[in-house]
Amino acid sequence: MTLAELLDQVQLLKSSGLSAIDAASTEESLSEERTRLVGRKAGALTELMKALPSLPVEERRPAGAAINDLKALIDAALDARGAALTQHAVRSTQQDLSLPGRRTWRGAKHPTTLVMEEIEGIFRELGFTVALGPEAETDWYNFGALNFPSDHPAMDMHDTLYLGDGVLLRTHTSPVQVRTLQRYAPPIRVLVPGNVYRRDFFDPSHAPMFAQVEGLAVDEGISFVDLKATLTHFTKQLLGSARTRFRPSYFPFTEPSAEMDVECQLCKGSGCPACKGTGWSEILGAGMVHPGVLDAAGVDSEKYTGWAFGMGPGRIAMQRYGIPDIRLLYDSDVRFLEQFAT
Ligand code: DAH
Repeated sequence: MTLAELLDQVQLLKSSGLSAIDAASTEESLSEERTRLVGRKAGALTELMKALPSLPVEERRPAGAAINDLKALIDAALDARGAALTQHAVRSTQQDLSLPGRRTWRGAKHPTTLVMEEIEGIFRELGFTVALGPEAETDWYNFGALNFPSDHPAMDMHDTLYLGDGVLLRTHTSPVQVRTLQRYAPPIRVLVPGNVYRRDFFDPSHAPMFAQVEGLAVDEGISFVDLKATLTHFTKQLLGSARTRFRPSYFPFTEPSAEMDVECQLCKGSGCPACKGTGWSEILGAGMVHPGVLDAAGVDSEKYTGWAFGMGPGRIAMQRYGIPDIRLLYDSDVRFLEQFAT
């Protein structure tokens, strides 16, 4: 080897060695580099040293100096890289391992939807099918066919948005009773879920838009016994041992009419804002279908009788899950809703 060749090798080793040191990403790979470059027995620099005696005497000094300079440079680079890797390792163990993990967020059904599905499940077992109707409904289906005399005070509770041309946002799901009776011949057992609209204040127990589930059974020989037995079975299935009561009531489209209350599950009957202090929560209205409704829909009211109900799954969800304010159902607050994820 000549001096020039040796100096070339030194240059080559300098650039390849330094970049290899820089690229070492673990203490192990850095230690491998150390052995490869400056290892005492077979390191690349040791090999160069072995070439020194073959050079002419006057060239040995400059060659040895070049090799020593390179060794100092490489040693310094190895030490610096080693320190950096140690520091990085220390920093990563300094991360706070007690921090809570990040959960992946799972979507969930809305509590009102959960209750509607439960209601549908219970009535499906009793042979009911599901029917739907329009939310923009005509005056006739919403009121006229349901035996509301025009300007009757019962309509006060059903104020809504009028869209013009005798069309309004339906105030209840009862118009679908009429639509179903017009379309299918008895025997009929149908369940009608859907949204309805009213000019109600947004308070702990009212909302201007809410879900209802309507039920209708029409056949020969249907009596109030069927109504009471079915609804009692239903509330047992849905709410277990919760106390219930029937109260006489009035609806233009049923005669006789009743309302069903459950003992408020939030205050256990002692009175709270969710039950307006009464200790009871009204969950449904019901009654024997008024013959005028059957006649309006073209069903022979001499031959057929029926019973019907309309319930508010939002109110039932409040009872079921202990929700103190109906407005929580409309806030779309993920912290509230995710509690219902199963
Ligand atoms: N449509 C009534 C309302 O929204 C509820 C209702 C009461 C429905 C009695 C019925 C019924 O089918 O028989 O206030």
